[in-house]
Amino acid sequence: MVAALRSHFIGKTKISGNFGSLSGLAAVFSACLLSALPAYAVEIASPDGRIVVDVDTQNGIPGYSVTFNGKPVLDFSRLGLQFQKAPDFVEGFDIASVKTKTTDLVWTQPWGEEKDIRDHHKEARIVFQSQTGPDRQMTVTFRVFDDGVGFRYDIPAQAGVDAIKITDELTEFTFHDNLKAWWIPAYKDNRYEYQYAASSIDSLDVIHTPATFEGDKIAISIHEAALTDYASMTLRRPMMHGQTLKADLVPWADGIKVYANASFKTPWRTIQIADTAYELANSRMILNLNEPNALGDVSWVKPGKYVGIWWCAHIRTCTWETGEKHGATTENTMRYMDFAAKYGFDGVLVEGWNIGWDGNWYENGDLFRFTEPTPDFDIEKIAAHGRKVGVPLIGHHETSANIVNYENQLDAAFAFSEKHGMRAVKTGYVGSRLNDTEWHHGQYMVRHFQNVVETAARHHIAIDAHEPIKDTGLRRTYPNMMTREGARGGEYDAWSHAAQGNHPDHATILPYTRMLSGPMDYTAGIVDLRFGEQEEKGVSSTVAKQLALMVVIYSPLQMAADLPENYEGHPGFQFIRDVPADWEDSIALDGRIGDYFVMARKDRNSPDWYLGAVSDEQARTITVPLDFLDNATTYRAEIYADGEGAHWLDNPQPIAVKTKTVTAEDSLSLELAQGGGQAIRFTPLAAR
Ligand code: NOJ
Ligand code: CA
Repeated sequence: MVAALRSHFIGKTKISGNFGSLSGLAAVFSACLLSALPAYAVEIASPDGRIVVDVDTQNGIPGYSVTFNGKPVLDFSRLGLQFQKAPDFVEGFDIASVKTKTTDLVWTQPWGEEKDIRDHHKEARIVFQSQTGPDRQMTVTFRVFDDGVGFRYDIPAQAGVDAIKITDELTEFTFHDNLKAWWIPAYKDNRYEYQYAASSIDSLDVIHTPATFEGDKIAISIHEAALTDYASMTLRRPMMHGQTLKADLVPWADGIKVYANASFKTPWRTIQIADTAYELANSRMILNLNEPNALGDVSWVKPGKYVGIWWCAHIRTCTWETGEKHGATTENTMRYMDFAAKYGFDGVLVEGWNIGWDGNWYENGDLFRFTEPTPDFDIEKIAAHGRKVGVPLIGHHETSANIVNYENQLDAAFAFSEKHGMRAVKTGYVGSRLNDTEWHHGQYMVRHFQNVVETAARHHIAIDAHEPIKDTGLRRTYPNMMTREGARGGEYDAWSHAAQGNHPDHATILPYTRMLSGPMDYTAGIVDLRFGEQEEKGVSSTVAKQLALMVVIYSPLQMAADLPENYEGHPGFQFIRDVPADWEDSIALDGRIGDYFVMARKDRNSPDWYLGAVSDEQARTITVPLDFLDNATTYRAEIYADGEGAHWLDNPQPIAVKTKTVTAEDSLSLELAQGGGQAIRFTPLAAR
């Protein structure tokens, strides 16, 4: 009887079709069902019908499940929140009402990996009402897209509650199958800077998101969108819970997960779903779940490529600290500006320009001064030179994780940057805890980043954050939050023998994991892979792969990381000069996590297309149909391929540059060396 009643109501509240009119029905049912357990379940299907979410209660516990192509993906997975000294949202609930809505619109990014983005989803706002104990309401909004599911708690003000301390979020992701997970560990001293591991879900402990899960004809990424004033979510596998991953909010030092007002919204919990893993890279769901631009006119936010006094510090041919080898001198900076102007770069990053670097800089965060240059860095002269040659400085604020010291100077620091013509500032938070106490990924740091982004915006400055909080798509709302690190970047290849750097498969995992969250300042484009006099150190890549990474790893501020003297005269440099940092379209074409990846992107300011392909430690040949090109045009393909005998460890330098005439009907056969890659520019020759 109960089952019949339930399925009956499921039928009535099924909102996958023309559900606008059915929401009224749902409201009618809610009125008469409030006292009768069980009430009804809600079913929401994606616009193409392939993803279906069911929201329900089991024994008074709210939860949801997900299917894809008719097959179970997530089994009943709990929803709920626990509070300190306030009635929890744990059990005793039933669905009281549902409001539904369909959205289908296109919005335009001021800059990005794709200019016009379609947001097409179905939404159900579901109110869970307590049936026992105190009167409590928990609202959860689901949005179901063709490329995944997002849901967030949206808690209304409740009688007798004025502030809330969240002690746990009970959200679960209970996988139907024991999929293969690609992950990095959470709660470690090096933040997000780990190489990815692959193992089955039932072997996981606690991991960061985005985490990616592969199964038979399905790939899933779990992450979050619009993380503001909340703790970031890691995923923990509770003891004895085979294939369940539970939200594990990064706590404050006092153990509280989140300090909230009586009425609050959580970030969206996101489940991106595709047939294959490389198609996850074509999802724009995270951006779609963020709020529109809150800054108004952002024409002052300029995507572009930059060079910098940076790699020399990492390979130790210059220093951050003052002295004989100091990199950030007036003359050296003006030399970099001249180089940037000559070859069309849009900025020069200078690290080590300010007071605080002398001595043990990563332990003395209180010494950093963000408005005081070192005596050998004449900021007025440099800024004037930058204006003359048309290349602004990119500022640098290393904090050594001392947030108190940085926040005390924040507004002055960005006013100083603005005054000297800077349009972007790179920030840094080296250290395993903030102020020696807080995790990098808790609410404290989420609030700090918000403060930085808003302060920078007031001074028309864009942010490139290193050791950041992970990206959750806030660049849509704050377009000056341009790029960040948040993974093991190219710098790891500077510090050791090539065999100990980033493993060659790292670049074939990032596009399926970290990159799903947003742009990354990876710092590729190294063409001298064995560092002159320090032959024992080197980058675990071929030159062609370094070029390919500038297409594969999207960043609106894209660094060409090598030294000017290594670029001039190098056959690969033309590609680095040509490749844009702002795109009209981006299409992941092919790939397999941990093996290879192929990305095509169309320039936002010209009819040119670019392609980047990267391989792991295996050599491979990939056939790529060029059907993304305009059908009515013949193109010249400038191909930067691994040269004869190229190998990421034994022989990284050989590069072969050739040209070919192609059309959209052709396929190219890309031969990638072991640990190699290929980069191609397609320029229209003529209409055909
Ligand atoms: C770590 C950053 O990732 C790197 O780019 C920077 O050079 C150093 N910190 C110093 O700030
Ligand atoms: Ca770093």
